[in-house]
Amino acid sequence: MHTIELLSDEQAKPLLPKLVALLQDSVHSGSSVGFLPPLTFETAEEYWLETLNEVALGKRILLVSGAAGDVTGSVQLARAGKQNASHRAEVQKLLVHTQFRHRGIARALMVAAEESARKRGRTLLVLDTEQGSIAEKLYEKCEYKRAGVIPQYALTADGLFISTVLFYKLL
Ligand SMILES: CC(C)(COP(=O)(O)OP(=O)(O)OC[C@H]1O[C@@H](n2cnc3c(N)ncnc32)[C@H](O)[C@@H]1OP(=O)(O)O)[C@@H](O)C(=O)NCCC(=O)NCCS
Repeated sequence: MHTIELLSDEQAKPLLPKLVALLQDSVHSGSSVGFLPPLTFETAEEYWLETLNEVALGKRILLVSGAAGDVTGSVQLARAGKQNASHRAEVQKLLVHTQFRHRGIARALMVAAEESARKRGRTLLVLDTEQGSIAEKLYEKCEYKRAGVIPQYALTADGLFISTVLFYKLL
């Protein structure tokens, strides 16, 4: 059975090696998610430890999808910390392991993230993603609206520029 759970930092800690593997899998299969290949275990682990620390501080929410003991995907909602932004959150690091793609897991994670946002009074979600990526199509299907494109936003491992598309959704 496939599940999606909102995890505390303590609940997520035992999954650390699987979360590291999930991030490495996305980076090594060519996705632009903040890191360049080769992504070492240590660097990926450091990223997740910082993430779990922010989960512990209530600054972000971590949703993890799993099946039969495998971590199949995850997504995060980062709270906007500013006083005038208590209604806003950013969707970050939507990742589905290559072995589990095209089964609707990303869509289910996005629905779960939106439900979590609503429960916390967040009525505006923002995100950005690589122009021309699979994720760009996915967000359009999830009814996110395009706010614009920023050229030369990120780099590939070959030093080429990547444009990013900014999306938002009013819940
Ligand atoms: C983007 C990603 C999360 C999609 O995960 P997934 O679980 O395979 O996606 P789903 O099965 O839920 O598909 C949802 C929609 O995405 C789009 N999509 C998914 N895979 C696709 C593909 N290979 N080609 C084109 N569109 C695709 C489709 O619109 C699909 O809708 P449909 O089922 O009605 O056709 C996954 O490819 C991934 O982890 N990529 C690497 C990390 C990344 O780029 N994350 C986004 C960071 S902003």
